[in-house]
Amino acid sequence: MPGAIYAEGLVKTFGDVRALDGVDLDVPEGTVLGLLGPNGAGKTTTVRCLTTLLRPDSGTAVVAGIDVLKHPDAVRRSVGLSGQFAAVDEYLTGRENLQMVGQLYQMKAKAAKARADELLEQFNLADAADRTTKTYSGGMRRRLDLAAALVVSPPVMFMDEPTTGLDPRNRQQLWEVIKQLVSGGTTLLLTTQYLEEADHLAHDIAVVDHGRVIARGTSDQLKARTGGERVEVVVHEREHIRAAAEVLQGFGKGDTTIEDHMRKLTVPVTGGAKLLAEIIRELDSRGIEIDDIGLRRPTLDDVFLSLTGHLAEAKDEDTGETQDPKNRKRGKETAK
Ligand SMILES: Nc1ncnc2c1ncn2[C@@H]1O[C@H](COP(=O)(O)OP(=O)(O)OP(=O)(O)O)[C@@H](O)[C@H]1O
Ligand SMILES: [Mg+2]
Repeated sequence: MPGAIYAEGLVKTFGDVRALDGVDLDVPEGTVLGLLGPNGAGKTTTVRCLTTLLRPDSGTAVVAGIDVLKHPDAVRRSVGLSGQFAAVDEYLTGRENLQMVGQLYQMKAKAAKARADELLEQFNLADAADRTTKTYSGGMRRRLDLAAALVVSPPVMFMDEPTTGLDPRNRQQLWEVIKQLVSGGTTLLLTTQYLEEADHLAHDIAVVDHGRVIARGTSDQLKARTGGERVEVVVHEREHIRAAAEVLQGFGKGDTTIEDHMRKLTVPVTGGAKLLAEIIRELDSRGIEIDDIGLRRPTLDDVFLSLTGHLAEAKDEDTGETQDPKNRKRGKETAK
């Protein structure tokens, strides 16, 4: 039996762009799927197809047990959506926006008001509740948009980059809200550029690239697939980077990644602490001085990098520019 969200072979083209090239997904009821992928991979297009905002060219999709292509209206009544770009009415206040959503879902006025109050409190918007949302900051709009998606608790929710542009405290709070929601039985498909978020919230992760799911599994499974541990070395002298790379390559189980500006080298290994000692001896015998060396497990960043060839990027909401969350991208190259 298919899960609460099921898609098979979804294809969507825009002119020459094949945004979705056969997306398959299956999300069991009451679980969270994290959809990860670089910019332009097809995440938003997938969400839009599954929530009836776009009609796929081909493929099948079933959400909450309802065929998305055959019964889009019924699907709309069963899903909640919070989009990548906040969709609030600028000329209404925060409170009015939420009450309006409640009424759209045929809630009684009193119930809609009570629910709005509850959500305004939960999303730290109580103080600004009676201002028009035109005056809201980016993070406030985003929170209001998320609150709007939660006015009624639909069995299936879609959230497209829910915490982009939120400060760390608001992000943490949203994570708590999401956890509560899921423990109440909601099924959630979440896209995010913050891999830590996927690690924290998602039972399962699907990595998309070029309109296809290229890897699927739990965070631990994907990390294990990416291969054992990593040795990270920071050399003291920039001139020693190449020589150190040669040493690491000899011990590594894959390519050595070099971050020039930080004089840092990273290589996947198997063999743990014993290997670390050997590497230190070898570097020492070649006169390569090190500032730091350590062993760490692969992160989801490593998974993302090895699968898609580049690091996840986070968009800065104020500037609209694309930035690397950990500022690690510049000068990053791979020694073959
Ligand atoms: N309405 C549209 N018209 C033309 N091309 C589109 C349209 N919507 C999406 N695309 C293209 O489809 C591809 C997938 O876009 P999509 O928005 O799904 O990516 P995404 O994974 O959500 O990226 P991001 O991380 O930047 O949000 C991109 O090449 C994009 O330019
Ligand atoms: Mg998107």
